[in-house]
Amino acid sequence: MSLLPLSEAVLKYLIPWPSEDWPVDWDSVFDGKGPLVVEIGFGNGAFLMEQARQHPQARFVGIERAWGSAKRLFKRLETEGLDNVRVVEGDAAFVLNHLFEPDCLDRIYIHFPDPWYKERHHSRRLIQSGFVQVLAEKLVLDGEVTIATDQAEYAEWIAEVLEGQSLLVSQFGCPSVPELPGRVPTRYEQKAMDQGVPIHYFVWRREACLSLDVTVERVGTMPNMILEGTFDRDQFLRRFETQTWQETYRGVPVVVKLIEVYGQLKDGHRLVMAMVKEGAFQQMFGILVIFRGEGKLLIKLSSMGQPRPTWGVKQAVGRLGEVVLAAHPELRVVSSTVSTD
Ligand SMILES: C[S@@+](CC[C@H](N)C(=O)[O-])C[C@H]1O[C@@H](n2cnc3c(N)ncnc32)[C@H](O)[C@@H]1O
Repeated sequence: MSLLPLSEAVLKYLIPWPSEDWPVDWDSVFDGKGPLVVEIGFGNGAFLMEQARQHPQARFVGIERAWGSAKRLFKRLETEGLDNVRVVEGDAAFVLNHLFEPDCLDRIYIHFPDPWYKERHHSRRLIQSGFVQVLAEKLVLDGEVTIATDQAEYAEWIAEVLEGQSLLVSQFGCPSVPELPGRVPTRYEQKAMDQGVPIHYFVWRREACLSLDVTVERVGTMPNMILEGTFDRDQFLRRFETQTWQETYRGVPVVVKLIEVYGQLKDGHRLVMAMVKEGAFQQMFGILVIFRGEGKLLIKLSSMGQPRPTWGVKQAVGRLGEVVLAAHPELRVVSSTVSTD
C-alpha cells in the first residue's frame, strides 16, 4: 500500500484491512445490508463504477493489487461521490480467503485476470483449483461468478478448473459462451472486441443441490452400441475435438466430456478418454471403439479406469455414438443400450 497520505475524501473508500478484524464486517463498513458484489482486478474501475451506478442498493468491493489502478478508481469515486463502493488493495486469493465469510457474496466478477497465458506459466495464474474452491465457498447459494478471457489457452484451463470443482455449475450447456448480451465492456474487453479477438465468458452458479453425498446409482445394462456401414478406418475420428455436455439428471448436475482419441491399439481399434462428473462424483475412464468384420463397429466401456456404469457414463457412450455418426454419416445404428431416459 502507498505510504503517501491520502485525502479524507479518498480514505473512506479504502479498507485498511491489515489492521482490521477478519473477516471484515461488511454491514458495518457499508452501514447497511444489500447484495455484496466483488470485482477482482478492476483495472481502470469503469465496470465497477457502472455496476455501482446501476445497482445503488448493492454493495461493491473492488480487489486490486495495483496501487495505480486503485488511485484511478478513487479519483472517479471522489468525482461521482458513489457511496456503495469500497476498495481493497491486495492479492485477490488472500483477500477473498480471509476478508469474506463463507456464503456472503452474491456475485464475483473476474475480467481478463492476469497475463499468464502460456501453459508453462500456469502456476502463476489467478484461476487455480484452490482459489476457485475458496471462491465457490464464499458465494451464497445461487450466487454467480463471471470470468472473461480473450486467451483461448487460458479459457481451456479455466474450463478444466471449473469442471474439477464440486460447488459450481455453468449457466450454459457448455463451460463458456462467446457473448454475454447487455454487458458494459471493461477496457480489456473493448480492446479484444475492437481487434476481433474471440472472448470466452464463463458464468457459473453455486447450486443448492450439489450435495457431496449424492448416491450415484448403477444402470441396469452395460452401455454399448453397434454401428454398421462402410467407412475408412484410417480416417476414423481423425478430426475429433474435445467436447463437453452439461445436463441435469434427477436434480444432480452431470458433466460429460469426451477428451481425446488414442489409435495405437491392436487391430486399429480406438480408445476414447472420457470424464463424467455427477454431483461431486467424478470418473475418468476409457471407451473402446472396436472394429468388427462386415463393416461393424462396437462402442463399449473399456476396463480402463474401472468405471462405475452410472447414468452419466451411459450418456458418455451415447455421446460418443453421436460424435461417430456425425463424423461418419455412412454409418447407422444396429443396436444400442444407451437411450437417454
Ligand atoms: C489485464 S488487467 C484487466 C483489467 C480489467 N479487469 C479489464 O478487464 O479491463 C488485470 C488486472 O487484474 C489485476 N490483478 C491480477 N492478478 C491479481 C491478483 N492476484 N489480485 C488482485 N488483482 C490482480 C491487475 O493488477 C490488473 O489490474
